[in-house]
Amino acid sequence: MKVTEMKKIVLTGAAGRLGSHLRVPLLKLADQLVSSDIVDNFGKLYPAETYVQADLASLEQMETLLKDADMVVHFGAFGDEGPFETILGPNIVGAYNIWEAARRNGVRRVVYASSIHAVGMHKKTNFIGTDAPHRPDTFYGLAKCFAEDLASLYWDKCGVESVCMRILSAAQVGNPRAVGSWLSYDDLAHLVERAIDTPVTGFTVIYGVSNNDRAPVDNSKAQFLGYRPRDNAESHAKSIFAEAGPQDAQDPGNMCHGGPFATVPLGNSGLAQLNVVDDSKTH
Ligand SMILES: NC(=O)c1ccc[n+]([C@@H]2O[C@H](COP(=O)([O-])OP(=O)(O)OC[C@H]3O[C@@H](n4cnc5c(N)ncnc54)[C@H](O)[C@@H]3O)[C@@H](O)[C@H]2O)c1
Repeated sequence: MKVTEMKKIVLTGAAGRLGSHLRVPLLKLADQLVSSDIVDNFGKLYPAETYVQADLASLEQMETLLKDADMVVHFGAFGDEGPFETILGPNIVGAYNIWEAARRNGVRRVVYASSIHAVGMHKKTNFIGTDAPHRPDTFYGLAKCFAEDLASLYWDKCGVESVCMRILSAAQVGNPRAVGSWLSYDDLAHLVERAIDTPVTGFTVIYGVSNNDRAPVDNSKAQFLGYRPRDNAESHAKSIFAEAGPQDAQDPGNMCHGGPFATVPLGNSGLAQLNVVDDSKTH
């Protein structure tokens, strides 16, 4: 049931893989969806959707983008590990610009695509909760830590609410890690809907993971959001483990929450190790 009436929601990163799966669910929650990204050609729009091309690294453009918005769903980013200079603009300056633009415009809440990579160096044998200390595995994860702390600061000092969703892996289940870490697109949409529609959130952290038997994280302190994922990657377990063969327990990529991001040298792609299939939703 929809509790909160929204006139306008802004979605950043709308041309991205996850953003593409959120447009239709978000259109159900607001009178108007403003989809934003840096790409030139966004393609066909849905009724009640507009597109604004804007650069996260520009405060001026973010301030204009968030005008009259009730909430912003912030998924725009460089979505992989990369050199610090690559991460700095979209992910770090961009995060500041989103929260500052939200404050200036009186936007009530930022629903943020954080990541497991903010805590990626914790061991998977440690069933971490939403209050686990930051332990980034990459510059990419470090930027997520910065954005979460920004969210905390803007709640404490400025009253801007945030829900930081530490997504584990919203990609097809293709490796042993994903049997625990998978977040289905339906569960992602449900999580974002709960993050928007919960009347009061203050500053909240929640893990974005499906109802996997082997989910390695604990969302009990964020139960009040009512996030109840339905999908479960266990059906893939037998074939995935058979295909992968024995796993090296000394490899931090197997032992740590961040998977391959825990082993790549700083500045080197983690996604390159994962063969992520681009199953973006087309209109
Ligand atoms: N895919 C996952 O499993 C996963 C896991 C954890 C967190 N996340 C986070 O979710 C979000 C979306 O991830 P995705 O997999 O859809 O990535 P993606 O790369 O497909 O989408 C990111 C989008 O951000 C846009 N963007 C990049 N730089 C920009 C800039 N300067 N200004 C405006 N837009 C810019 C890109 O054009 C792209 O469309 C990211 O914040 C990512 O860190 C994703």
